[in-house]
Amino acid sequence: MKNITDTIHRGRKTFSFLLAAIVALAAAGADVEQRVEELLAKMTLDEKIGQLCQMLGETSAAAMAGDISVSVRGKRLLAEIRAGKCGSLLAHPGKNYNKLQQAALESRLGIPLLVGGNIIHSANTCWPIPLGLSCAWDEGLWRRVGEAMAVEARTLGVNWALGPAVDVALDARWGRIAEAAGSDPLLNSLMAAALVRGIQGENMADGRHIAACAKHYIAYGAAMGGRDYNAVEMSDDTLRDVYLPPFRAAVEAGVATVMPAFNSYNGVPCSMSRYLLTDILRGELGFDGMTISDYTAVEECTDAGHGVAEHGADAAAKALEAGMDMEMVSRNFADGVKDALASGMLKQETVDEAVRRILRVKFRLGLFEHPTIDFAALNKSIDYAAHYDLAREAARKSVVLLKNNGVLPLKKGIKIAVVGDIANSRREMFGGWAGTPNTNSRNTKLIDGLKADGVDAIYSRCYNLNGKVDEKALKKAASKADVVIAAFGEYEHENCENNSKARIELNPAQRQVVDILATTGRPFVAVVFSGRPLAIPELAQKASAVVAAWNPGSAGGLGVADVLTGRAEPWGRLTIDFPITTGECPKFYFRPTTGRPSGTRLHGPRWTSRYRDVPETSVWPFGFGLAYTTFEYSGESARAGSGEVVFTADVKNTGGRKGSELVQVYVRDIMAGTVRPRRLLKGFERVELDPGETKRVEIKIPVSALGYTVNGKYRVEPGVFEAWIAPHSDAGRKLTFSLAPEK
Ligand code: BGC
Repeated sequence: MKNITDTIHRGRKTFSFLLAAIVALAAAGADVEQRVEELLAKMTLDEKIGQLCQMLGETSAAAMAGDISVSVRGKRLLAEIRAGKCGSLLAHPGKNYNKLQQAALESRLGIPLLVGGNIIHSANTCWPIPLGLSCAWDEGLWRRVGEAMAVEARTLGVNWALGPAVDVALDARWGRIAEAAGSDPLLNSLMAAALVRGIQGENMADGRHIAACAKHYIAYGAAMGGRDYNAVEMSDDTLRDVYLPPFRAAVEAGVATVMPAFNSYNGVPCSMSRYLLTDILRGELGFDGMTISDYTAVEECTDAGHGVAEHGADAAAKALEAGMDMEMVSRNFADGVKDALASGMLKQETVDEAVRRILRVKFRLGLFEHPTIDFAALNKSIDYAAHYDLAREAARKSVVLLKNNGVLPLKKGIKIAVVGDIANSRREMFGGWAGTPNTNSRNTKLIDGLKADGVDAIYSRCYNLNGKVDEKALKKAASKADVVIAAFGEYEHENCENNSKARIELNPAQRQVVDILATTGRPFVAVVFSGRPLAIPELAQKASAVVAAWNPGSAGGLGVADVLTGRAEPWGRLTIDFPITTGECPKFYFRPTTGRPSGTRLHGPRWTSRYRDVPETSVWPFGFGLAYTTFEYSGESARAGSGEVVFTADVKNTGGRKGSELVQVYVRDIMAGTVRPRRLLKGFERVELDPGETKRVEIKIPVSALGYTVNGKYRVEPGVFEAWIAPHSDAGRKLTFSLAPEK
């Protein structure tokens, strides 16, 4: 947050520099436009159609290591590229990149390829899954991770990241909740912008950055029942207030491409919604880049899926006319565009416009000037050790300490038993979309991370996450130790795409482990590796300490151990609620108020909006996270001034250790025109404090950020607001402030 404000305030000083940069950019932009038009004028219809197609390239590690020009599939692919039938590949081709680009240069017009890969949180190094990364609440860190991922992606032969995912996700059942920044629109927006800026840099063509892709547009995280690919029904106002802001932020950060989502929105597949792809994305947000369908999503509009296109040509026409520019993998554009043009379903100028947008990205990426990569020089130029350190920093900052009865940080000299199969696994630290991070010798397991500093830790498996529990071994391990560290959660293949779950509780094996450990008389620390918040009230009850470790990446073992041992102070705060049970999903902190909220003065507690069998509170709410010290808030206030509201609090470190507190501001509009969230995050600031130290924290929120959308129009309403400046979304003393009507 601070960075953004600082940047704005520094603005004046850098004005003249900016002006020069804008003039230079405008000139470069004009140049690109001219080159696009010149090239377009030379293209045949077949060549234009070729540019609209992304083909599936070789993606396996074996293919990457081998020579693409000798395999049957590879030869076929190269021939298609030479024939000008392919604008882009979905692949991590490694050094084969140069052969592929060479083939593209041999095509009649020599148009280089966009090579798209799923660079989500990993390339050679693996950083924590985005949901974990978001818990750092750290824009600088997110940007640095984006930078490092981009340059590493180039070594995989990828010049276009099919990321970041910027899907606000409220439902823990949805597997793809792992891929973005959790449930909050503001946090998702900040992380989206930081990652886009990191991945693309100031200049995508500088040889160290690549194009980014904000996905999945839009409301994908609101799939009914948390079931992947499912339909979405919601009001347009909710779309604008909750799901659109991260895309707006990505566009403002200059994102080169956007990927429409698989789902339908109010009855129309996103892939063929002119309202979404043209009216809102280009019209309202001002996006001037290209769109790429999701994997076979155009085909999925036919009777093979949504059933809203008669045949391939119809699907192609509808998608292109809606504002889709490139089709991923399926062949409706390749096979259907000519028929669609002939029948009048599709206009030639629509095809030309799509080609223009694709070429523009290729020019902006500098592909025509530098179609190939000098891999040896590139690899030499990358400081992989620094990237590994960054992965360790990211892992440690993603960890959220959820419960601690004093067992953490681990005391020096004690004996530790480490149990559970994933505590001894490198692979399980990675998470979905990680591919094969290749700094293998350095990827750490939790057990190695603990031992790194001479901790006396002994690993014995005792159980698999979803397997049989060796009760005898578990009791034995516990009996020999002062503290048990037990790994819980999910295997990495259980999160990300198409990994929705109807049950997010611990499975019977893990519940058995909890029960056994609870009877051993030894304190146990539950380290939960997962791609979603799990429903784990029994850990909250029975473990001595609980830590959310997510999938922490290459340096995950070290980063998590840094926090457990106290080599680092806990830093992470939740970006999503931990529900008590699956039946409450979607459970999110900014739910709209009801006529009968808890604590209502109208009726007794029985007649409030609630479940009979679970409390309304979360096991751990959004924004929550402990430190190894304690903090006290006093003197909280909210003052509305001209154009901004100033929130202040004195925050004191009341414990015995240095620590960092994340001070959060939440606001509720009472007496609003329509029903508003019970509270909504508006800002935050981190403060680091020595024992006994007090600092005054002041957070300024522009009045313009306090509005919401009614019938498509964003507005800020005068009147009374409630506010909290607090350590999490369920805490704090209620404040009020008023906004005067505009004169
Ligand atoms: C996913 C996208 C991904 C694409 C290409 C799809 O199934 O939804 O996020 O970029 O595949 O692998």
